[in-house]
This record gives sequence, C-alpha cells and structure tokens, in this order.
Amino acid sequence: MSYNVAIDGPAGAGKSTIAKAVAKKMNLIYVDTGAMYRAMAFFMIREKISPNDAEAISKKCREADISIGHENGEQVVYLNGENVNPYLRTEEVGNMASVISQQPAVREKLVELQQALAAKSDCIMDGRDIGTCVLPGAQAKIYLTAGSAVRAKRRYDELTAKGQTCDLKKIQSDIEERDYRDMHREHSPLRQAEDAVLVDSSDMTIDEVINKIISICEEAK
Ligand code: DC
Repeated sequence: MSYNVAIDGPAGAGKSTIAKAVAKKMNLIYVDTGAMYRAMAFFMIREKISPNDAEAISKKCREADISIGHENGEQVVYLNGENVNPYLRTEEVGNMASVISQQPAVREKLVELQQALAAKSDCIMDGRDIGTCVLPGAQAKIYLTAGSAVRAKRRYDELTAKGQTCDLKKIQSDIEERDYRDMHREHSPLRQAEDAVLVDSSDMTIDEVINKIISICEEAK
C-alpha cells in the first residue's frame, strides 16, 4: 500500500511551496491537483467557453485528456499531449479554474486521475478536497491556512518580484472571492477533514511550516 499525505487549504496558503519541500525531504512524489484544474481551465479559455455556461463546460471537458509526468522532480501537466505548464500560473487561469471546478463532470474526471496516481506511488498531494474526497484514507492529513491579508501580501510580493505591477487590494478581494466560491460550492467544497491537523502559517516562516508538517507526517508513518 502506498503512503499518502493530503494537504488542503485556501488559495495562497503556501501549499505548493511547502508540499514541494516536504516531498524532497521525505522522498515522496509531489502531486499538484490545482494544476490539473488549471489545465482544464486553460483548455476552456482557449476554446472560448464562457465561465457562466455550465452545460458547455461539462460537455467540453470530455475532449480534454489531462495527464501528468515528472521531469527533473517537477510536475508537468499535459493537455491532449501538449506540455501546458507555461500557461497555468496566471490569475485569469486560476480564477477560471475555481469556476470550472464547480462542475461534477470536471471533478469526476480529475479525481479519478488523482486516485490512480496516489495508488501507485508514495506521494504528497495538495488541493481543496484531498483529505475529504480524493484520499480519505491518507496516512497524514493537513489543513494549511493563513489570514487572507497575509496570503494576498505573499502573492503580491511574489508577483512584484517577477517584475509584474499589481494591486494588493484587488489581489486580496480576488482571494476572498475565490475562498468563498471554493468553500461554498455544492460538490466537494473546501473544508478541513475531521482527522486533518490544522496549521495556520500566518505567523510562521516557511521553514517552521515545513518542519511542523514533516513531524506530523513522521508521526503518522
Ligand atoms: O490551488 P490552485 O490555486 O492551483 O487551484 C486552482 C483552483 O482549482 C481552485 O481555486 C479550486 C480548484 N481546485 C479544486 O477544486 N480542487 C482541488 N483539489 C484543487 C484545486
């Protein structure tokens, strides 16, 4: 049986940074499920599907074959055979991913892929519904969160470091809107699993969070 760690939490809590570091230290494969929803969102944007057209999203997602591979320890997402990693990290794609992930047809397709990956390898998987729906039997579950102002500031610093101009208030309101949508949708909303350990990273350094999560994982081994 494979060893699985589930990390859930809201946008910008630092899940991917932390999960990547923990994966390296514990020799696990890192699976970023948000990137799969982003690839599906990118497909919808490219196909000019409206975010308001639920029926078209449910229909169109059948034409998207999404798979993942690993190159130099990095996850690569393939959309109908094409490496789409370079297109996934924009705000537009992130917001569209939050919208299309409300559709059961999209979720069913991606959850199946995630469960197959976890069954065949020791992994740490991050997302919104990993501990509650995708891997209810994961050996360790963490709910990683931080206040929305802290998360917005981290995102702002990340974007400005890349030379992009952005508005802190707009980033925070986008984050809060995304939190609301992810937490209140009908299917697999974001919530802490009953057996997940809550880690609030608002006043913690990255290293402190990594060490805390490693100790939770070691205990659960
Ligand atoms: O983690 P992220 O920002 O890359 O995720 C983008 C969106 O995808 C997120 O707002 C909601 C959706 N998502 C989801 O519904 N379930 C997951 N397991 C991961 C992401």
